[in-house]
Amino acid sequence: MSELGVLGARDRYALALTTEGKREIMGACTCGYSTDPEKNCNGTHNVVKAVKADLAEKLEAAGFPHAAEFVRNN
Ligand code: FES
Repeated sequence: MSELGVLGARDRYALALTTEGKREIMGACTCGYSTDPEKNCNGTHNVVKAVKADLAEKLEAAGFPHAAEFVRNN
């Protein structure tokens, strides 16, 4: 289990925004999910990454390894 495993999903998303997100606020968004009106990177990519990891983990635990792999890689 990762060090973030003890945190709930909501905590992980908040952490993604408050730590990594603040460090990476610069330039144009390249992930396509920025919530910034000007489409600059505002750290939203960290939330997307955390949500995808959470989904993949749950899919794998529910017996859908192929779906989990798809979520991780797409
Ligand atoms: S690259 Fe899209 S929000 Fe950071």
